[in-house]
Amino acid sequence: MDSLEIKGGKKLSGEVKISGSKNSALPLIASTILSKNLLNIRNIPDVVDIKTLVKLLKMLGAEENFSSNQLKIDTTKIDKTIATYDIVKTMRASILVLGPLLARFGHCQVSLPGGCAIGSRPVDLHLKALRKMGAVIEIKNGYIQALAKDGLKGGDILFEKKTVTGTENLVMAGALAKGVTTLRNCAIEPEVIQLCEVIRDAGVDITGIGTETIQIVGTDKQLLDFQDIKVIPDRIEAGTYLCAGAITNSKITLKSVEPKHIESIIEKLESMGFTFRIKKSEVTIFPTDKILPTNLITAEYPLFPTDMQAQFTALATQSEGESKIEENLFENRFMHVNELQRLGADIKIDKSVVQIDGKTELFGADVMATDLRASSALVLAGLVAKGVTTVHRIYHLDRGYENLDKKLNLLGADVRRINSKL
Ligand code: EPZ
Repeated sequence: MDSLEIKGGKKLSGEVKISGSKNSALPLIASTILSKNLLNIRNIPDVVDIKTLVKLLKMLGAEENFSSNQLKIDTTKIDKTIATYDIVKTMRASILVLGPLLARFGHCQVSLPGGCAIGSRPVDLHLKALRKMGAVIEIKNGYIQALAKDGLKGGDILFEKKTVTGTENLVMAGALAKGVTTLRNCAIEPEVIQLCEVIRDAGVDITGIGTETIQIVGTDKQLLDFQDIKVIPDRIEAGTYLCAGAITNSKITLKSVEPKHIESIIEKLESMGFTFRIKKSEVTIFPTDKILPTNLITAEYPLFPTDMQAQFTALATQSEGESKIEENLFENRFMHVNELQRLGADIKIDKSVVQIDGKTELFGADVMATDLRASSALVLAGLVAKGVTTVHRIYHLDRGYENLDKKLNLLGADVRRINSKL
């Protein structure tokens, strides 16, 4: 398992290009199951999670070619509808094939994704909503066995909780259903919006895009005429690099970014003393005399994203004072805390709140990555820790950050990828 060796203490400078959004590309790739034609999706990040989903679609019978951030895919030849455990267990977002497969074929089996490091990650809201559309769904031998032999019917669905992939699954299901589907209490993340726009541009009558109530007039199993797609920038990758600039107190510029999607992150960094220059698709962060402590609470978009909680916990170790960070979406998203403490951070956990006392000098050590965003927090801490920090099990990072070590080195960091046979 590879690791990253980071020599701390370097100031960063220059520019970094933000890749396409992993969490937009995943539902978009799943939605191609609804397409009657071959289509191209551009600006896809070359990360493991994308390759996993492309492999799943290939296993179902799709023909695909993924290279240089572009996917050409033809799903018209899909002739299987079982998403097996061996692939779903490696990436829970595989659940995104459930809605489109069921809508198109009237039957499918998808392995239950199971939990992951950050929590139990149930899919009950996906299943409850699909049942409202006439699906018969059983859980048997660890698989979701779904049947809608006469096709899905438009339904009136209220999500008890905002769920990003739940909303995405039901938008895709509603697109091919017979009749009108109304989804209420929808997630409104930019990734959900892009999926809705792509399905609208493929000829489906969707209203309420970007609001918490989406109405879809289904095509009654008529496949869709997709246009080529360009994936939106990855707002969490962008936020992570802003934190790299902040934690090293450097001036760096992010290119190919959507400033609107990272407003809550920029605002939080401004409250910590940083200043910014914002252009159409570019954001520059400037250093501050003193990093101020922060109080933040994670919540659904457009509020502060849970996917940035670990990175801000690392940053807060360098702020002067007491910070409090509350995690409201996942029950176990503090796996990075013990590892940050190994670097010398002064952090206490009290139920869903971490308290970080700074400014603490960090010292390089061996640390273990546990999940995608926790791993990025350890890399950020390594950028300022004295000496060498080695982050082990960086396959977690490779799931969602494209060329992280190369991009950081281009900014002046000293990061070495160590391939190990273990
Ligand atoms: C998406 O996961 C993202 N993944 C996650 O990013 C992100 O952390 C999360 O949304 C929250 O923003 C992708 O988009 C591929 P949810 P998702 O359904 O859809 C509960 C990353 O780092 N819930 O919005 O799985 C759930 O337990 C990943 O890129 C149910 O109870 O998250 C959680 O508490 C990590 N029942 C809350 O809702 C359900 O059926 C939000 O989950 C579904 C969700």
